[in-house]
Amino acid sequence: MRQAGRYLPEYRALREKAGDFLDLIFTPKHAVEVTLQPIRRFGFDAAILFSDILVIPHALGQSVRFEAGEGPRLDPIADRRALTRLAAEIDQTVLGPIYETVRLVKAELGAETALLGFCGAPWTVASYMIAGRGTPDQAPARLFAYREPEAFASLVDILVEASTEYLVRQLQAGADAVQIFDTWAGVLPPEEFTRWCVEPTRRIVGNLRARIPEAKVIGFPRGAGTLLARYIEDVPVDAVGLDWTVDRAFARDRIQTRVPVQGNLDPLALVAGGAVLDRSIDAVLEAFADAPFIFNLGHGILPETPIAHVEQMLKRIRRN
Ligand code: CP3
Repeated sequence: MRQAGRYLPEYRALREKAGDFLDLIFTPKHAVEVTLQPIRRFGFDAAILFSDILVIPHALGQSVRFEAGEGPRLDPIADRRALTRLAAEIDQTVLGPIYETVRLVKAELGAETALLGFCGAPWTVASYMIAGRGTPDQAPARLFAYREPEAFASLVDILVEASTEYLVRQLQAGADAVQIFDTWAGVLPPEEFTRWCVEPTRRIVGNLRARIPEAKVIGFPRGAGTLLARYIEDVPVDAVGLDWTVDRAFARDRIQTRVPVQGNLDPLALVAGGAVLDRSIDAVLEAFADAPFIFNLGHGILPETPIAHVEQMLKRIRRN
């Protein structure tokens, strides 16, 4: 999950200096530093590349901006015609600095610390491209997919190809594994979940393994609930991320018996701290720690998270 960001004073300082969020991502010196900040401070077992899922629309020619305190803003794709303005393939020269960051981070990390690359899943990336922003339930993209399924499928096809190429290059540059974030998987009905989340992600993993057979992939269909069973059935991932809402008995008995799991701690329990954080950690460990499991949050770390609570969490996990 996201582990860098505004909860760290050293991140805020560099973000201010770099000015623009995309400049931070596309300047390897800065991106390396932000990737390593949480590792230096907390000694996590894995670093995650500092980038964003929206660099793919950016490399397809869509305007992407990050406005302070507001999250991402893109020029929305309002109709089928707007789709024709996108490039059919990503511009790899735009993404070159990101691969350079992967190489540099890999060289800095000790052998005991894994490096994760990532991309957004086509459904989630498309949902930002169409709405131009995050919305409570990504209704604009859902409506677009109902009204213009063929046009939507052509956008998904572009994203499948672009994401495959993007992940291949991250792995070639030294990433040990890659994670595919489907943050908005949970807003779709079951049929659409299969069509727009499962199928495109299955194609990405298939294409990736055709190029790099040993590629390690973690899937994260946030909010999928019991549809996680269908996801792991059809998408050959090496591990799957659990958000904090999933029924733990279901995840343990139906998911973890098939693939290793990671995640599940509510990021808000980490904001709250104290006894409720301890209890939440214990519940996660009790459910999952006896079988293949990576301790992690159920979604990215929140900007208001106190650093002392991260330290409290690590102390409790490492004692186990
Ligand atoms: O630890 C890390 O820094 C990993 C890098 C990372 C970022 N974004 C950096 C980032 C990763 C893995 C992401 C993924 C991402 N980005 C997702 C999928 C996973 C998830 O968290 O749901 C999504 C949906 C995005 C799109 C995006 N980028 C949003 C919605 C936002 C605003 C969030 C916020 O906290 O304001 C971003 C900005 C962003 N991406 C930040 C970081 C560190 C905060 C930037 C800042 O304000 O300085």
